[in-house]
Amino acid sequence: MPAKVNVGLAIGPRRADGFHDLQTVFAAVDLFDTITVTPAVQTSLRVTGPAAAGVPTDHTNLAWRAADRLGLPVAITVDKQIPVAAGLAGGSADAAGTLLAVSRLRPGPALAPIAAGLGSDVSFALRGGLALGEGRGELLQPLDGPPLHWVLAAAEGGLSTPDVYAELDRARPAAVAPKLDERLLAAVAGGDPAALAPLLHNDLQPAAVSLAPHLNDTLAAGARAGALAGLVSGSGPTCVFLAADRADAVRLEAALGPHCRFARAVVSGVRPTVESLVVA
Ligand code: C5P
Repeated sequence: MPAKVNVGLAIGPRRADGFHDLQTVFAAVDLFDTITVTPAVQTSLRVTGPAAAGVPTDHTNLAWRAADRLGLPVAITVDKQIPVAAGLAGGSADAAGTLLAVSRLRPGPALAPIAAGLGSDVSFALRGGLALGEGRGELLQPLDGPPLHWVLAAAEGGLSTPDVYAELDRARPAAVAPKLDERLLAAVAGGDPAALAPLLHNDLQPAAVSLAPHLNDTLAAGARAGALAGLVSGSGPTCVFLAADRADAVRLEAALGPHCRFARAVVSGVRPTVESLVVA
């Protein structure tokens, strides 16, 4: 299950239910968590891999909650490569992967409404690729566009999404309806990184940077290294840099490595894959 970045993110005022209407371009990238489920007497969860530290392994984990919604007890294993609380929707990827895997074991209800109820990014995680997201993120229109090359720069520590939204509301008391620049959508469809670079935008970035000021250093390091553009991914603290092509991304990955926890060249537009393994 792929991580996601937000290529553009426009946030409106806080709604009565506490969420914010938004307009975003979601792009799934090839940094994957792998979710395995097997039928069991009762649900359990094991988390392995480099990003496993601190991930809850009980019913509070979104993957466990996803299995509960489908009503089939399963043993879930998550191989966690996507950093936690990073603005990459890793927890949403795990929940969406659990929904896909459990429904492969036992076909059941439509997954989209269940995904929307689990979290704002779970609907996109179910489909991957490239999409325009509206509402609180759950209303999706697929977009077409060629793959683009990026570098993720993962920061030390995480940021709480509610804290970042609260900081946005504090610093920006008045907000208008969220509206992305039409040229951003055209540039994504055209797949020209040079045209897209000046249009990348994230309304949450000032709030994320004010809570984690060291992100300014990471963004500056990307600019010095010659990234076409850089921005905070979602609510952060991962920064994402646009590269001209694959070779440029590999070069940027090496240049950014010393300035963050780890840097990783990725390509956007990937989709989840589901495999069944029947043991005879
Ligand atoms: O939907 P999810 O559980 O991922 O949201 C986590 C938190 O992020 C929400 O409780 C809310 O504080 C904030 N949020 C928001 N508006 C959105 C998405 C998330 O205010 N569209």
